[in-house]
Parts: sequence; C-alpha cells; structure tokens
Amino acid sequence: MPSTNTFSSYGSVTKTFHWLTALLIFTALPLGWIANDLAHAIYDPSVPTTEDDIARAARLFSLHKTVGVTVFFIALARILWAVIQTKPGLLNADNKPEAFAAETVHWMLYASLVLVPATGWIHHAAAEGFAPILWPFGQNLPFVPKSPELAEVTAGLHWLFIWVLAGSLALHIAGALKHHVIDKDSTLRRMLPGQSDAPEPPTQHHSSVPAVAALAVWVAVLTGGWFIGVFSDHSTATTDTAELTEVQSDWQVQDGNLSITITQLGSPVAGSFSDWTAAIAFENPAEPGLAGTVDVTIGITSLSLGTVTNQAMGADFFNSEQFPTAQFKADIYKTDTGYEARGPLTIRDKSMDVVLPFALDLQDNTATVSGQLELNRMDFDVGTSQPTEESLGFGVVVSVDLTAERQE
Ligand code: HEM
Ligand code: HEM
Repeated sequence: MPSTNTFSSYGSVTKTFHWLTALLIFTALPLGWIANDLAHAIYDPSVPTTEDDIARAARLFSLHKTVGVTVFFIALARILWAVIQTKPGLLNADNKPEAFAAETVHWMLYASLVLVPATGWIHHAAAEGFAPILWPFGQNLPFVPKSPELAEVTAGLHWLFIWVLAGSLALHIAGALKHHVIDKDSTLRRMLPGQSDAPEPPTQHHSSVPAVAALAVWVAVLTGGWFIGVFSDHSTATTDTAELTEVQSDWQVQDGNLSITITQLGSPVAGSFSDWTAAIAFENPAEPGLAGTVDVTIGITSLSLGTVTNQAMGADFFNSEQFPTAQFKADIYKTDTGYEARGPLTIRDKSMDVVLPFALDLQDNTATVSGQLELNRMDFDVGTSQPTEESLGFGVVVSVDLTAERQE
C-alpha cells in the first residue's frame, strides 16, 4: 500500500493517523468522563470519600491527560501531513448537500482535534495541585499563569468543545455507515487498512464554503456557550464571608500577608487569607526574653486556595461553617538568634502549642515581620479522610509577612 494519498485513495500514513486518532479519542473520552464523575463525587461533601477513591480519580485523570496530550501532537502532525497531501475526492461529490455536510464535519473534526486537548491542557496548567500528565516535560505551559479564573473558563471551553467533537463525530460515523450500508460505495473501504478497490471519484473543485460553514458553527457554539454561562467564572463564588472586626492594639498592622502552602498529589498549592486581625503588644528588650504578646484571629472563609478553595472549606477540612475562625495567642520572645512567637494555635476544635520563628526589622516606630512555620494538618484533624500523604501531604507551610506601626 503506498504511503501517500492519490486522488482516489488514502495512503498508509493518512490511514494510520486516522485510526490512531480515533483510538486515542475513544480512549480519552471515557477516561475523562469517568475521572470527572469520580472527582465530582470527591468534591461533594455529602458523598463519603476514601483515599482510594482519590488515588483512582488521580490515576484516571493522569491517563486521560496523557492520552489527550498525545492526541494534540498527533493531530498537529496529522494536519501538517494533510496539508502537503493530495486530498482524495469525495465519491459522492455530485450529491452537493451531502458532500457539503461531509466536508463541513471534517473541518469541525480537524478543529476539535486541536481545540479539545488544547483547552484541557491550558486548564491543567492554570489549575494547581492535581493529577499530573505522565511525562517528564513539566506540567506548566509558557504564558499560562496559575489562575482559578482561567482554570474555570478553560474547563468550560473544554466541556463545550467535547460536545462539539462528540456531535461532529456522531455525524461523521453516521455518514461513513450510510455510505457503507445504504450507498454501498467504497468511502469506508478506502479508509480501512489495506488496498481497496476505490474507484476514481468524479471531477470536483475545492470550495472554501465548508470551511467557512465550520467556522460559523464554531462562532455559534461559542456564542451559545457565552449565553449559557460556560465562560463565567464561578470560582470566586464563596460562602458568606462575615468580616472580622478590626482590633486596636499598641502596634497596628498596616499591611500584611498570611499565606499557606499545601501539597496535593505532589504539587504545591499556595493560597492566602484576606481577612485576619492581630493585636500586638511589643517592647524590644535589650536581652533575650519575653518581649510582648500577639493575638491573631483568622477568618477561615477568607481563604483563597487556588482551585481547591471550596473543598478546603468542607466538613472534613477547615469545616468553616462550624469553625469560622482560627486563633493564635502567643507570647513573643527575643532569642539569641531572632524572635519567636510561642503559644497555642487553634484550628477547628484543636489547640496545639506552636512556635513561629520570625525576623524583625525595627525602624523607629515601624516593624517589619517575616516568619514561617510548618504544621502537620493531622494535628488539627484537617483532612482525616486522607490519612496518608498519597494525595494530600501532611505538611502545611504557614508564612506571615506584615508591617506594623507603633500607636502613640
Ligand atoms: C475520533 C474519531 C475520528 C476522527 C477525529 C475522524 C476524523 C476524520 C477526518 C478529519 C477525516 C477527513 C480526512 C480528509 O481530510 O480527507 C476523516 C475521514 C474519514 N473517516 Fe473519520 N474520524 C474518526 C472516526 C471515524 C470512524 C469511527 C469511522 C468509521 C465508522 C470513520 C470513517 C471515516 C471515513 C470513511 C473517512 C473518509 C471519508 C472520505 O473518504 O470522504 N472515521 N475522518
Ligand atoms: C482529545 C482529547 C481529549 C478529550 C476527548 C477529552 C475529553 C474529556 C471529557 C469527556 C471530560 C469529562 C467532561 C465532563 O464530564 O464534564 C474531560 C474532562 C477533563 N479533561 Fe479532557 N479531554 C481531552 C484532552 C485533555 C487534555 C490534554 C487534558 C489536560 C492535559 C485534559 C484535562 C481534563 C480535565 C482536567 C478535565 C476535568 C475538567 C473539569 O474539572 O471540569 N483533557 N475531558
């Protein structure tokens, strides 16, 4: 069988691309479906989830993404190949409406072959801490920032384009079967492996109308998607966030950042609390020893933690509904090497003594503080349904950076 196409037949390279793509798509589709269903069950607080469920969803997603990325590269190679090849003429070119439909669907398929994996991939690169693509080339994409908003929009596009692919594919297969079963022509046979007795297609001229029609369908799909809200960003829809009342103290926080970094499926996911207060009393002693006190209250629902913000609020994690605040009441000590805040940290219904070492820069009446400590989430009963580190690491890094002014 020749490797290149002629006006009446497909060569082996085109056939291999065609059936390889078909096989990969029919693998990626159910994998995506099943993995997504499992993920929904995991995110649903009313469905009990085991560590095994999470590991299985992650495995299926990793396979799905790896197969999907393979489709992307094979699709690009296939399109390049199609561009430099003779295109076999349609056997039913004389039946204008059918020929137009077939060509339009081919354009739809070519575009979906790139757009479906591309949106999945951008979604993956914009989201944090989920199942990796099984390859050594990294998980990020250039120019794609980690952003819950972008992740949400590209997930919507991925979903929309999957339906376009599925619809086009249904029409495509129906067309192929109609040729084979009803018209009894060689359309399907000449795409099957091996030599076929493909007759010479009728003379026909190439028209750009089907490509324009496919473009119009894409515009209609995107407009429809816009109307049904596929691209709106639902990621910031948080539960009610009653603000904490401001506190007055000897030192008033002017500016600050309280952030945490967790490890999900081996990748770090960083986030921060936008609402917290700190009452600080502090006198810098000449010698190491007690230097003051600090009382920090943190509004749990003000946490933004990438794409897993809502999950973090769930009953098994921070349980923000029952425990809307966390508290750190500590004594501040000057040590031989720096400063430490030592005292009980209360998250959910668990209190535990912790030590936060920090660096302090004092300029007249302005103090700049920067400190970090690592907690074990299990000490605070956070995520007990995941009692190993397979999907969610135990260590949570807490970082504090703030500037405070002494009040007169
Ligand atoms: C994910 C799966 C599939 C994709 C993405 C796909 C895509 C395509 C594309 C883009 C073409 C046009 C090739 C060209 O430029 O000439 C084509 C041709 C063809 N496909 Fe598929 N296809 C898929 C599955 C199938 C299946 C399952 C069948 C059979 C039931 C099939 C039967 C055919 C036939 C017979 C042709 C040749 C049409 C002709 O000669 O005019 N395809 N396919
Ligand atoms: C031809 C390739 C692909 C096909 C046919 C495909 C198909 C699917 C399907 C059917 C779903 C489930 C949708 C739902 O139930 O709402 C899905 C979801 C998903 N896919 Fe793909 N996919 C492809 C490529 C990719 C790639 C390359 C990636 C990432 C590298 C990816 C990442 C995802 C993710 C993260 C989800 C879940 C989206 C969400 O949370 O809403 N997919 N995909």
